[in-house]
Amino acid sequence: MPTALVTGVTGQDGSYLAELLLGKGYQVVGMVRRSSTVTFERIQHIQDDLIIVQGDLHDQSSLVSILEEHKPDEVYNLAAQSFVPTSWSQAVLTGEVTAMGVTRMLEAIRLVDPKIRFYQASSSEMFGKVVEAPQRESTPFYPRSPYGVAKVYGHWITVNYRESYGLFSTSGILFNHESPRRGLEFVTRKISHGVARIKQGLAEELRLGNLDARRDWGFAGDYVEAMWLMLQAETPGDFVVGTGETHSVREFCEIAFGHVGLDYQKYVVQDPRFYRPAEVDLLISDPARARSMLKWQPKVGFRQLVEMMVDADVTRIGDTSRV
Ligand code: NAP
Ligand code: GDD
Repeated sequence: MPTALVTGVTGQDGSYLAELLLGKGYQVVGMVRRSSTVTFERIQHIQDDLIIVQGDLHDQSSLVSILEEHKPDEVYNLAAQSFVPTSWSQAVLTGEVTAMGVTRMLEAIRLVDPKIRFYQASSSEMFGKVVEAPQRESTPFYPRSPYGVAKVYGHWITVNYRESYGLFSTSGILFNHESPRRGLEFVTRKISHGVARIKQGLAEELRLGNLDARRDWGFAGDYVEAMWLMLQAETPGDFVVGTGETHSVREFCEIAFGHVGLDYQKYVVQDPRFYRPAEVDLLISDPARARSMLKWQPKVGFRQLVEMMVDADVTRIGDTSRV
């Protein structure tokens, strides 16, 4: 039975990845950081099947101890400060976790067992002010936020440890992926949750920022499969993962409100508070390499994703208001 360590197991992707790995017969070690309240909402249903260990990307010796004790075959580094606006208000912390945290884990692997296969959760946010469209593995980076800058560091240190030490360290450059488990502050979930609240009469408007930003949005459940496939490949590398389609925040609103019979224009209010100091206007992937080398392709389309998220929030809010 192979063993996998998943950092960020309490996050959106961590929960889907842990489910996938358990289904494949892995022993799954989930790293969580110490907190005064429990943050296990997304993994409650599989908690008994996981080995939960305490560790933090700030703390190198906790990473070394976990690797020594659990001897994983694969490490999926999903932990990060992942919310772009917070990266301006907590730029140093974002750099410590999202950038230096990667080096701490790679160093731990190099010292404890260099045969461990390593996945780094890189991001389309690295393309930022894009220099070509669509974006592929060879597209130069131009990050537009401290988060994007930190991810560029994480990407290159992953490449560097591959080239310097021969580690099996792979960088998955994933475009935005969403689900009913997405954090409430990200725009897709903010919209699906807002729609559900308005539909239930609990809110009268939804305040958003830039409606013209375009993203290549896919379903998180599909994307964790690509992560696993990357670590089963013969050689490590860099892989762009996305749908190859792009849609605006406005289109997301139109479908989400329309799905419950509402017109978004009556409810969405543009609020400068949600504009960013520097915006990423357009992301669209060219996932040809992942398609040909990993035989990966997404199963859930854009409309299906939006409707799945709205349906989940309508049900969730309906259940809560009946209690
Ligand atoms: P998420 O829901 O925000 O989850 C982040 C996880 O990191 C949480 O489990 C969090 O723990 C953990 N974490 C934060 N700081 C930590 C620290 N210092 N030490 C240990 N754990 C820490 O993010 P996600 O959407 O699942 O994304 C997973 C990864 O993929 C992230 O690295 C993200 O930057 C990257 N990514 C995401 C997307 C996307 O569209 N979702 C696209 C490209 C790349 P708590 O629960 O305790 O907060
Ligand atoms: N969060 C948020 N809230 N975004 C808004 C809002 C709002 O009220 N209104 C408009 N937007 C726009 C943002 O300006 C941005 O252009 C777009 O919606 C998407 O924002 P987010 O959902 O916060 O995601 P992101 O693209 O900044 O970052 C996500 O995707 C990256 C991959 O490209 C995160 O998951 C990152 O961790 C990930 O790396």
